[in-house]
Amino acid sequence: MGSSGASFAPGLEGVVAVRTRISGVDGGAGVLTLAGYSVEEISGHASFEEMVYLLWRDGLPDAEELAAFRGALAERRELPGATLDLLRTAAARKVPAMDALRVAADTLSLDAPEDPALDLVARTPTIVAAYHRLLRGEEPVAPDPGLGHAANYLYMLRDERPGGGSVRALETYLNTVSDHGMNASTFAARVIVATRSDPVSAIVGAIGALKGPLHGGAPGPALDVVFEIGAAENAEPVLRERLRRGERLMGFGHRIYRVRDPRADVLAAAAERLFTTDGDRDLYDLALQVEKTALRLLEEHRPGRNLQTNVEFYTALLLHGLGLPTDLFTPTFAVGRVAGWTAHCLEQQAEDRLIRPQSEYVGATGRSWRPPGER
Ligand code: ACO
Repeated sequence: MGSSGASFAPGLEGVVAVRTRISGVDGGAGVLTLAGYSVEEISGHASFEEMVYLLWRDGLPDAEELAAFRGALAERRELPGATLDLLRTAAARKVPAMDALRVAADTLSLDAPEDPALDLVARTPTIVAAYHRLLRGEEPVAPDPGLGHAANYLYMLRDERPGGGSVRALETYLNTVSDHGMNASTFAARVIVATRSDPVSAIVGAIGALKGPLHGGAPGPALDVVFEIGAAENAEPVLRERLRRGERLMGFGHRIYRVRDPRADVLAAAAERLFTTDGDRDLYDLALQVEKTALRLLEEHRPGRNLQTNVEFYTALLLHGLGLPTDLFTPTFAVGRVAGWTAHCLEQQAEDRLIRPQSEYVGATGRSWRPPGER
């Protein structure tokens, strides 16, 4: 109990700090609602532009509104020269992709954007794709305003027009991760914008929060484990050894869900479609075996804690199926989540209430100052 009578909740677990209409997570039932639609209902149907519009404005656009919104986003994709220069410098120093995204996102303030939320959504994929190519010694591919948001992202990465199956799989992924209650990066964004700071600052903070392995940094390591295992019979010894060393199994467990993360099922279905048509079906089958073994061992490891598969495990498989290397997984998460971050910035700006919790002082009291020679 703090001096003001407020109670201490480590990690803010169980604390409701925000009322939002953007998304709701029922961790006991395993239900994720995105502005009124279940994740299963909306993710596989909507384009990413529709999803952004829905989260920002609490309703899907009609055909005319959608065309105008697509056009507005497409028009804002191109990066200022200063942003590209910075990305070139970062690539020469081999800065990790999430750090490059963070510093480049900051430069969007240089334009004094009229609609920062629009610029942030429009340009995040351009930054990620440009940096990906620069790191490999290739020139960035200019955005194509004739392509939809997801198709254009794949085009800028590969310099090749993507097929419809890949675009649908990517849109399903981006929609699935577009928002998720008061997760750490969204909370960071809301705290920043609640001081009446600006959305660019808020999204820079959110990118920093997303980078950590306990949040958005898990899918790369999750896939690395599947590769390390290599064959179903190795799953148990490899995973057991990791747990024995006190490591966490990436792609499992969640602060809110005590049942299977519903996003895992949506992405598993999308990944299965992708791998069945044009992927490495053996890898998909191996991942299913790894998941089964991990769940059994986690139940042994923390009985009754219900550590279940989270979104990151199937994210890894789906993005791998799309041909994305692991260093693009977390930046691609940001390409989707920036929809939710910006929606929360708009909601928080309308709410206009400073977010300012308390702390409980547990340090010493009554100390007297002594000069350095007497300490
Ligand atoms: N592997 C092994 N042990 C685990 C795992 C795991 N994946 N997850 C939790 N545990 C253990 C914890 O160490 C803890 O043990 P302890 O009581 O001895 O310390 C116990 O299970 C209970 O942990 P929780 O309270 O359920 O976990 P918490 O809410 O603090 O953390 C988190 C949730 C960070 C997601 C955790 O499960 C984890 O580290 N998972 C692996 C990383 C991961 O997949 N992150 C992506 C999350 S999804 C997202 O952010 C988009």
